[in-house]
Parts: sequence; structure tokens; C-alpha cells
Amino acid sequence: KIIVLDYGSQYNQLITRRIREFGVYSELLSHKLTADEIMAQGNVKGIILSGGPNSVYNEGSFDIDEKIFDLGIPVLGVCYGMQLMTKKFGGCVEASDKREYGQQALTITESQSPIFAGLESEELVLMSHSDRITEIPGNFKITATAPNSPAAAFESEDQQFFGFQFHPEVRASVHGNDMLKNFVFNICGAQGDWSIASFIDLKIAEVRELVGDRKVLLGLSGGVDSSVVGVLLQKAIGDQLVCIFVDHGLLRKGEAQQVMDSLGGKFGLNIIPVDASERFLNKLAGVSDPEQKRKIIGNEFVRVFDDEATKLDGIDFLAQGTLYTDVIESGTDTAQTIKSHHNVGGLPEDMQFDLLEPLNTLFKDEVRAVGTELGMPDSIVWRQPFPGPGLAIRVIGEVTEEKLAIVRESDAILREEIKAGGLERDIWQYFTVLPGFKSVGVMGDVRTYDYTIGIRAVTSVDGMTSEWARIPYDVLNKISQRIVNEVQHINRVVLDVTSKPPATIEWE
Ligand code: XMP
Repeated sequence: KIIVLDYGSQYNQLITRRIREFGVYSELLSHKLTADEIMAQGNVKGIILSGGPNSVYNEGSFDIDEKIFDLGIPVLGVCYGMQLMTKKFGGCVEASDKREYGQQALTITESQSPIFAGLESEELVLMSHSDRITEIPGNFKITATAPNSPAAAFESEDQQFFGFQFHPEVRASVHGNDMLKNFVFNICGAQGDWSIASFIDLKIAEVRELVGDRKVLLGLSGGVDSSVVGVLLQKAIGDQLVCIFVDHGLLRKGEAQQVMDSLGGKFGLNIIPVDASERFLNKLAGVSDPEQKRKIIGNEFVRVFDDEATKLDGIDFLAQGTLYTDVIESGTDTAQTIKSHHNVGGLPEDMQFDLLEPLNTLFKDEVRAVGTELGMPDSIVWRQPFPGPGLAIRVIGEVTEEKLAIVRESDAILREEIKAGGLERDIWQYFTVLPGFKSVGVMGDVRTYDYTIGIRAVTSVDGMTSEWARIPYDVLNKISQRIVNEVQHINRVVLDVTSKPPATIEWE
């Protein structure tokens, strides 16, 4: 595998992603890793030092265990990584008041360099740095230059150490991928045999070995991550996996049934279904404040789960659908020591589990690929994000059974028509909301005074920001007509045309 040491660049995950796309396993790890710890990882073919926001001469700037350079493993430094190498090998880095950012022409001066094999003599790359290398270390030579960076790339004479002042991992570096490939395959000699299928085989073997004949508990939510964990673990340990599926009555139309039919039926997961709709509705009665609604649902969820888990005997592990991004976001410094003991919600102190997180080295799209490889249907694998509090935050104000039914029915129509229009994959998230006010209408000569339904549909990458989706007018028209005709107590349909920010995606 190829290790990427994290110096804090916003692009560092991308390097890992690109290398995995080449079929070579790669992991982003803390820059605090020592040479011994790297050796203990086993089968490390190459090391990449990522970019980062620091200046190498700043006090407390991120450092490296110098013994790493004695391991006999090729090292590629990118941006900050290259500057760090320069400093360590005796060259000179200087702060520059000119920050260089943008696509620039790279002139490759050493066409014989293995890292530039197959590339043109001029390549477009993305520069993003303020410090510059003013003197390269002895035993190194410059292999490429750029207008404001005389040392835009260098390598050591023994071709063990390489440095790029630019970012090969981003698309703006047009052939950056080829340079990374040269490093990974030609220089490090990696194999390229990592794939989703091999990941699955490896995980199954690992889980079998770790779990033995003990039992694992999993909370199924119907979402992509927990469902994929469920199917993967079922393959590994069969009925030693016990799943609890809490239906809080706030799921979309047909969703609970689909989980039971598909995961419980086709995939044979051992699922304990818990119909807790009444418990949740009772707790929500009379509550209209959004934050309070969220809190009530969150707390009640933990309680129901705990009530069920306490009834079970002899559970040793708790499985979770933690993703690599969750691990990285909690900081690669701490990612090394993920807590192995975890106490769920309000379970008694003495009821402790070991955590089992089989997807915690994968990105979201890789999790989807695992699901597909395991034969799971698109309806689960490509399920749109759905908030934990479910439809309760799409009924504005107090949640009642009648209002939930209105949101559920209108949402089902919206989903059907988006699917029929072939727009499912283009729109990131789409749903209906019930604002809860009434307005006047006329239906078959009769005056009506009924509720309005709002349509919310957005495009987004990660939900942090979003644009309202441009659904074609004729599709909108069909949706509007069907909702008014088919859903009781609706006489008006409106479309939400705000982006995030300033609005949020959900209305509560
Ligand atoms: P907002 O409304 O904050 O939503 O723009 C951003 C994304 O997060 C989802 N969301 C939630 N997901 N628990 C979740 O698991 C929650 O409490 C929650 N609230 C919002 C929302 O659906 C959107 O995808």
C-alpha cells in the first residue's frame, strides 16, 4: 500500500482517492507516525508527504520522523511535503510575500525522470503555495520549473526521493494523475490488485477471525451505510449478527417494509423489528419547537435501542457504519487510537462492547460499490440522504398522525415522478414539507380551505451547501396535479427556490 502522511492540506484525501482509483490501496495517516510504526503497517511500497497550510520554519510546524528517509521506501513530497524534505536534506525554503495560486505551465527539464515518463515537456498544473524553495539540497536535481518556482519539481540522485511544488492530485493539474501513477507503479513498484471485490474478501476473513463464534449487534437504520455493514457481516458470520431495526414511524412510505423484505428477506439478515411509532408520537405530542423535536427523537431512539439490546444475551461487539471521512474528520492524529470500548447511550455501565467498523477505511462511493458488489439493489445503495428525525422535521410544528400521512403520501408521489422523469441521480435530495397553514382553493365548484405542500429538491455534493434543483416544468406540473388530486387535505403546491446558504435544506 501507499501511505499518505497528513500535513493538513485540503486536498489530502484526494491523493488517497486517486491512488485507490489506480487499484492500489492507500491510507491517509498522521504525520506523527514514526518509521517503526510505518514498518509495522506492513507492505508499505511508498510514502507521500501531503501539502499543508504551515510554513516549515514556523514554530511548531508539522515535522517528520527523519528515520522514515532511511527505510528504503520511496518518498514523494507534495507542496509542504517537498518543502519539508528540502529543509531536512539541507536545502533552503524562504517565505515569499507573493502567494502563488492557480493553473500554471510546468516545464519539465528532465524528461528522463521516471516520475515524468510519458508526459509532454510542458504540462498544466495547479500551484498553491506562498513559501518557495530557493536552494535545493545537495544530491538533488531540479526536474521541472514554473514561472514563479524555479524548483517546481526535484528528485534525489538515487531516485528515491521526489518533490512537487504543485498539487498533482487535483483535476486542474491536467496530467497529475499520470505523474502519481508513475510514482506508484514505476517508482514504488505497487501491484494494482486492490479492488472492491478483494476488499470484501479481506474484510470477511478479518471479521471471521476477530469475531470467532461470538455475537455482533447492529442498529439498522435503512440507510446505505448500516445496510451495507449488515449485508457484509451477514456474509461473514451469518446469524451471529443480530440487527435491531427501530421503526420510529417517521420513515417514508414503504421504507420499513422494504428494509424487512430486502435485508431480512432476500439477504437473510437476522433482524429484530421494533415498531415504536406510538412511543415516538406520544413523546412528540404538543411539541412544536424544531430543536426540541429533534432532541426528543434522538433520546427516544437511544432508549428504544437500549431497551431491546438489554434483552439480548452474550453480545460482544457493536457494529457501526462509520466511514473513512468520519475517521479523517475526527483528525488523523486521533484516528490511530479509535476507542475500542464504547458504551451505547444509556446502557448499563457493565454492558460494554468492542466496536466493529468494517467500512471505516472507505469513502462513500466505495461503500456504494461494496453494496452493489454484494448484490444490493440501487434503491438501498443509492438511497438519498435522510435525516435521523425523519418526516417529523418535514411536518412543520406539531407532529400528528394525520400530518405525517400527508407528508408521507405527497413524498411518495414526488419520488415516483422524479424517478419516472429519470432525474433520480441528478437531484441530490428531494422531499415534500407540510408548512401547516391553510389557504383557500376551489375544487369542482366547491370552495376549499386546506393545507399547502412545499416541494424541496436540491443539488449538492455533501449537503454543506446546495442549489435548488431545476426540475423541468412539466415534471413539476405532473407532481403538483397528482398531489392535489391524490392527497387528502391538500389544495396548493409550492416550490422552494432558495439555495443553502441562506436557507438550510430541511425546513426545520
Ligand atoms: P440542513 O437542513 O442542515 O441539512 O441543510 C443538511 C443535510 O443533513 C440532513 N440532516 C440530518 N441528517 N440527522 C441526520 O442524520 C439529522 O438530524 C439531520 N438534519 C438534517 C439533511 O437531510 C440534509 O441532507
